[in-house]
Amino acid sequence: MEKRASFGTKFGVFAAAVGSAVGLGNVWRFPYLTGNNGGAAFILVYILCILIIGIPILLSEFIIGRRGQGSVFRSFKKLSPKQPWYLVGLIGVFAAFIILSFYGTIAGWTIEYVYLSLKSFFITTEITNYSEYFSNITGDNTIPVVCQLIFMLITGIIIIFGVQKGIEKSSIVMLPLLFIIIIVLCIRSLTLPNSIEGVKFLFYPDFSKINSSVILSALGQSFFSLSIGMGALITYGSYVKKDNNLPKTAILTAFTDLLIAILAGVAIFPAIFSFGISPEEGTGLIFVVLPEIFASMPGGAFFSLLFFILLAIAALTSSISLLEVIVLFVTEEFKIKRWLATVLATIAASILGVFTTLSFGPLKDSTIGGKTLFEWADFISTNILLPLGGFLIVIFLGWFYKKKYIKEEVTNEGTIKFSLFNLFYFSIKYIAPIAIIFVFLRGLSII
Ligand code: TRP
Repeated sequence: MEKRASFGTKFGVFAAAVGSAVGLGNVWRFPYLTGNNGGAAFILVYILCILIIGIPILLSEFIIGRRGQGSVFRSFKKLSPKQPWYLVGLIGVFAAFIILSFYGTIAGWTIEYVYLSLKSFFITTEITNYSEYFSNITGDNTIPVVCQLIFMLITGIIIIFGVQKGIEKSSIVMLPLLFIIIIVLCIRSLTLPNSIEGVKFLFYPDFSKINSSVILSALGQSFFSLSIGMGALITYGSYVKKDNNLPKTAILTAFTDLLIAILAGVAIFPAIFSFGISPEEGTGLIFVVLPEIFASMPGGAFFSLLFFILLAIAALTSSISLLEVIVLFVTEEFKIKRWLATVLATIAASILGVFTTLSFGPLKDSTIGGKTLFEWADFISTNILLPLGGFLIVIFLGWFYKKKYIKEEVTNEGTIKFSLFNLFYFSIKYIAPIAIIFVFLRGLSII
């Protein structure tokens, strides 16, 4: 039998997992949610969600993947040959496909903004209404599609190179770069006049702002940002060697993801407050408000280029984890070569992606039930498939898989200590499933 691919080094595992986690979720989604939900109080709830629910699910995915040594589908099949848990795997592959399509849309805008920044477009052009300008750019029927396809092509190329030479190597290069860029942007933002208002917004909680919709957004965001609920980390977990300390990797990954989200907040909000702009701009926050700020900020052209490169890199290390879920599944189940599986999966996700991209242009008015295709893709995956997948993952481990095997896997056959094991087990058995059900029903506006 052919030897399975694996990550080469421990840092490589960490870089790949953080690469998957850190993405548009941190730099685009987290800031606008924080802006819309009142700042520090939202962040506190978000941190609680990560600690109580996010980390246990993340660790569960690593455990299932490393034990199962296969795609999200195959791992479930190996761990539970007699029961249809592999269906969770199929849901995961389906979710990967949908997330990848709309992820490519936003990543495509990012590439276009890199190009516009290179031409100093925001600085030299007279733009009077940035919001309208953003609608015009995203509403065009060719350029966003071309940019999305370029992004998908790069994602596909990295995946063709495989686990060590593609995923691991690119993540090891891109992660430190991302970190440096974000620090530079934080320094710029914090040294603007009156930036302290933005810092206050991020770090002084106003508890009266917490309500059930804030909690709901925070939990949904923790799933999306940690890449949990659809088996991306089961897939990566299957490439992790037996001597890796899984709890440590899971905790480090979650904290780094959180750190980068907060740094993204520090890079953005002090600048927004310094220019006296409202933080409640919604989904367009970074694409509408930041260009306006860059246009009047000292060194704006340079910092806008840095910012959108940061975003593109972050998106790329995440999109490869989504594509890998599909590619590993296809290569294992249909016994075809990696490159062919990658080409087919990339083409399929790109085709769906063209439609989600065009949802901002020619297909803007083609709505079903009041939502465009893009909005459906986002809604179905983030609000339904991820919580459902996350729920089934913890239910499986907590109720249908032998505790002894979980302990064996998580302690590397008893060679390392994991003193929080009982807490972890309690969380996957009771806390996480109950919390997810609550959020799920709220998300569908049932309770
Ligand atoms: N976590 C990534 C982000 O924050 C997106 C992502 C990658 C993802 N893989 C995923 C989200 C799997 C959900 C599931 O941008």
